[in-house]
Amino acid sequence: MSLSITLTLNGATRAVALDDMRVTLLDLLRERLAMPGTKKGCDRGQCGACTVLVNGKRVNSCLTLAATLDGAEITTIEGLAKGEALHPVQEAFIKADGFQCGYCTPGQIMSAVGLIAEGRAGDDPERIREGMSGNICRCAAYHGITRAVQEATR
Ligand code: FES
Repeated sequence: MSLSITLTLNGATRAVALDDMRVTLLDLLRERLAMPGTKKGCDRGQCGACTVLVNGKRVNSCLTLAATLDGAEITTIEGLAKGEALHPVQEAFIKADGFQCGYCTPGQIMSAVGLIAEGRAGDDPERIREGMSGNICRCAAYHGITRAVQEATR
């Protein structure tokens, strides 16, 4: 069985033929759509490294079947900057040292973008930590990540 879906990926319409109904959005992005910025950590919904926006909402792309996304609008880390101009959340992560090794950073940033869009960020560190709790950082750069979200919310 095969299925054709059409996505809007970072503003561009993409038609995709799926031969395997089990392919995840994460694998589709990385292996077929040349979007390696979205990272694979646990591949089971526990680390948040694979976070992207689907129709403006944060999702773990490793848990999202591509076959369910016909007509969806997907935003990945590659879609945030406008030319040379970084997205304000990307700027805030740099300014606040919101990373160490950087592997989780695309997922952290996409989650922060989603959290701010949901109006759930604010300035309260505890509230930000709760809102970002689905994104694990093995370097434990949480203090900088929280400051980056505060910075981006201002
Ligand atoms: Fe998707 Fe870890 S790779 S949550």
